[in-house]
Amino acid sequence: MTEIPRGTVQEQTFYEQVGGEETFRRLVHRFYQGVAGDPLLRPMYPEEDLGPAEDRFATFLMQYWGGPRIYSEARGHPRLRMRHAPFAVDRAAHDAWLKHMRDAVDELELAPEHERQLWDYLVYAAASMVNTAG
Ligand code: HEM
Repeated sequence: MTEIPRGTVQEQTFYEQVGGEETFRRLVHRFYQGVAGDPLLRPMYPEEDLGPAEDRFATFLMQYWGGPRIYSEARGHPRLRMRHAPFAVDRAAHDAWLKHMRDAVDELELAPEHERQLWDYLVYAAASMVNTAG
């Protein structure tokens, strides 16, 4: 076996592997199109313009998957459970959120292994955000 000197193999982050910023912007844009038309979720979003919320979520995901730390520069530590505390995230909200996310993920047409990794994370993260019974 040929020896590869340490440090010469640059491992790509998941962020890079799936196409970088463009991919995450597309994902979140599509997701928010679903939210915009959802009678349960839409009223939960405080701002009339969903653009800023879209930007926060996209930059959060980019950072989480190894991209630039734009989110934390603007918002500090994510503390997502705390940031969701003002919103009643119950089972129905969770299910609606995941449904729009599923549609958005499908439209990315990622490689199956990438898609599975992303989806598993989103399912886990959504479950952890539930803060209200019912
Ligand atoms: C389970 C259902 C969920 C519901 C109903 C929900 C709802 C909301 C709402 C209403 C906001 C406020 C919009 C804003 O002003 O930014 C928000 C913010 C946010 N959500 Fe969620 N969310 C859910 C799950 C998640 C998950 C799973 C993640 C991460 C993977 C996430 C990431 C974020 C981020 C990053 C913000 C912006 C936080 C900030 O910096 O203020 N959310 N969410």
